Amino acid sequence: MAGLTSSTIGRKYAMALSAMFLLIFLILHLTTNLLSVINRDAFNTASDFMGYNPFVQFLMQPILGFAVIFHFVMGFVLEIKNNKARPIKYASNDASVNSSWMSRNMLISGAVILAFLALHLYDFWLHEINYKYVEGLTPDAERFWPELHEKFADIWRVALYVISFVLLGLHLAHGFQSSFQSIGARHPKYTPIIMAVGTWYSILIPLGFIFIALFHFITQ
Ligand code: HEM
Repeated sequence: MAGLTSSTIGRKYAMALSAMFLLIFLILHLTTNLLSVINRDAFNTASDFMGYNPFVQFLMQPILGFAVIFHFVMGFVLEIKNNKARPIKYASNDASVNSSWMSRNMLISGAVILAFLALHLYDFWLHEINYKYVEGLTPDAERFWPELHEKFADIWRVALYVISFVLLGLHLAHGFQSSFQSIGARHPKYTPIIMAVGTWYSILIPLGFIFIALFHFITQ
């Protein structure tokens, strides 16, 4: 691990691996939460399983937590190192011509997602920890759907969530293909496919989350 993070190439590689792990997490997280729209009981059963399964709780969740923190810290480190490496900005270097808005503002979209996560973990994860480990309340497989539904009654929370999901889409629009580039996956035949999948992924995943938030708000 130390070897992987001691050189710029190693750091970019490690950053890409953490990104890919989070890309998979987002698909799973969206799928589970879409159940709350499709079938209340199925959502309760899935949440109850994940909330009390030792493998999920004590192995997968800590790995996820580590991946999230690692991704954000490494993002900042790489940005600082990049800025140090090019202290003089060339007069002829027109950034808007050489790179997209998304690629130039990964740090800004990343910071918005980080702020969203702070609110989101307070809303859901902290509540879970409190329910199970602080107050030690008895398991109730019926509680998950009403708890989630109630959170989206507040228009300000829904607005903050939706804005964050739009920024998440912009972050993914560059991040998806960039993670493949960083691990050296470049090929005349496969790169266009990766780019197309990345575009669809960065549109559909945030749209799915927006749909869930609006569904619960509208059906209050
Ligand atoms: C409308 C959209 C979303 C809903 C309804 C939702 C719902 C939830 C719920 C119910 C939990 C608690 C699960 C538990 O601890 O048992 C949770 C946790 C979490 N969510 Fe979300 N989420 C949404 C969007 C997102 C997005 C876009 C991200 C990432 C950018 C995200 C990242 C996380 C993380 C990291 C956790 C903590 C880990 C976990 O408990 O599994 N969520 N979310």
